[in-house]
Amino acid sequence: MLLLSPSPISLLGALLLCLPLALIFTITTTPTTTTNGGATSSPCIITTTGGASPFQTTLTITTTTTNTSVKKNTSNPVLTAIKSTIKTRRPTNNNTTTAPPPSTAEIFVDDEDDNALFRLAARANPNPTRPRKIAFLFLTTTPLPFAPIWEIYFRKAPKTLYNVYVHADPSSRYDPPFSGVFENRVIPGSKPTRRHSPTLISAARRLLSHALTHDQSNSKFALLSPSCIPLHSFRFTYKTLTRSRKSFVEILKNESGAWERWAARGEEAMLPEVPFDEFRIGSQFFVLTRRHARVVVADRRLWAKFNAPCVEPYTCYPEEQYFATLLNRKDPRGCVPATLTHVDWAGRDDGHPRTYNATEVGPDLIVRLRRGRPRYGDEEEEEEEEDAINGTDASVRKRRHPFLFARKFSPDSVEPLLSMANGVIFRD
Ligand SMILES: *[C@@H]1O[C@H](CO)[C@@H](O)[C@H](O)[C@H]1NC(C)=O
Ligand SMILES: *[C@@H]1O[C@H](CO)[C@@H](O)[C@H](O)[C@H]1NC(C)=O
Ligand SMILES: *[C@@H]1O[C@H](CO)[C@@H](O)[C@H](O)[C@H]1NC(C)=O
Ligand SMILES: *[C@@H]1O[C@H](CO)[C@@H](O)[C@H](O)[C@H]1NC(C)=O
Ligand SMILES: *[C@@H]1O[C@H](CO)[C@@H](O)[C@H](O)[C@H]1NC(C)=O
Ligand SMILES: *[C@@H]1O[C@H](CO)[C@@H](O)[C@H](O)[C@H]1NC(C)=O
Ligand SMILES: *[C@@H]1O[C@H](CO)[C@@H](O)[C@H](O)[C@H]1NC(C)=O
Repeated sequence: MLLLSPSPISLLGALLLCLPLALIFTITTTPTTTTNGGATSSPCIITTTGGASPFQTTLTITTTTTNTSVKKNTSNPVLTAIKSTIKTRRPTNNNTTTAPPPSTAEIFVDDEDDNALFRLAARANPNPTRPRKIAFLFLTTTPLPFAPIWEIYFRKAPKTLYNVYVHADPSSRYDPPFSGVFENRVIPGSKPTRRHSPTLISAARRLLSHALTHDQSNSKFALLSPSCIPLHSFRFTYKTLTRSRKSFVEILKNESGAWERWAARGEEAMLPEVPFDEFRIGSQFFVLTRRHARVVVADRRLWAKFNAPCVEPYTCYPEEQYFATLLNRKDPRGCVPATLTHVDWAGRDDGHPRTYNATEVGPDLIVRLRRGRPRYGDEEEEEEEEDAINGTDASVRKRRHPFLFARKFSPDSVEPLLSMANGVIFRD
């Protein structure tokens, strides 16, 4: 398995094959004389040329030192990133007659090499410039089966109102290659990802970082998987997202198995940063504001906790815990505690939500999914308190944000979806 011990060379090879990068680095070393030691805390300034493909971004790295003895550090953060590895811990029990635990739980991310990128992105301006854009962040390990649907979706969207970014696991093959709106949109520094592992968190953080630094107009950041489809037109989605000043991120408290999930890294492992009563669970398919995207890429404290390896693989789902816990802690009032990506978990206990197959996909399904009401995490807290429903509580209960996306659909659903794209899905 490439994932278990990727050599830097193989990763580099995979990346270069998959991604025709054309990054231009302009390294400017500016000796300055200052007496303020604080200047070194921000050694790099990246200026990007907005609008271009992420690969034509010109990075200008300016090194500022506290005195005239100039320290040159020309280490290229992207090349360094390529050298990053995913470390695996050898299972302590290698009795092969016992079922091996899911290997994903053994994985944690060594993202030292991403840190330069995260630091830069954390300093991006939190206020989006106009016209505000939606950044669509696709996190994938496969070719995008619904690319033809997205193609129609974006065809009707003004180019000035969106950007597309793709994080593509470089250990996978992409055949057919990304084309159309996805062509040249794979971010440099994409790394291997695995379900139920911190690699998915890192990948989302990389996407957010690139989108933050690439275009200051990016105002909302929507994370999507290859099995997601749009439930509405771009126009509707754009209006819904830009009308709100909040992020949409599912934040659930006291979900079943919450304690086991909190303790999956060891009973005390999350302490003191994440006490159990501050632990939250929720879908990783969020839409974040620019301000919150910055919060996520700037975070190091909680990330170190959620990146810790699990000792209990069956309750370890870091990607469904990190964003909810972090944003609930930093700015609960800035979040609508629900996801706008519809998913059906009813009756599922195998860790996979329902996947609609081609025979089930028709106008009725789309209408039904659109009619659904998101599950709001803060309502559940009120119910626990048993005294809710009055005054503002009741108005809070009347909330009903529309689902904008849905998952999961089998790849062969693309045919029925295409046949009703203009007549049903994008008609609103
Ligand atoms: C300048 O900085 C270097 C390393 O950052 C340090 O070793 C040196 O003492 C400093 N010189 C002065 C004059 O502050
Ligand atoms: C150079 O920068 C890289 C990443 O930006 C960092 O890991 C490394 O420690 C730096 N080296 C020196 C000598 O400052
Ligand atoms: C597991 O296998 C490795 C080599 O594959 C060996 O070094 C180690 O001693 C084994 N551990 C146990 C507990 O059998
Ligand atoms: C391996 O595990 C099985 C089931 O737990 C047990 O019956 C068997 O004795 C073990 N074998 C060794 C070599 O430890
Ligand atoms: C959490 O949920 C469990 C059942 O899932 C319930 O017994 C317990 O009272 C809940 N805790 C709180 C603080 O509401
Ligand atoms: C599609 O899903 C439905 C409902 O789950 C199921 O009854 C049917 O057998 C599935 N069809 C195929 C071809 O998998
Ligand atoms: C209803 O709202 C009032 C204030 O508006 C508050 O004092 C009270 O605790 C709330 N709950 C109930 C059950 O009355």
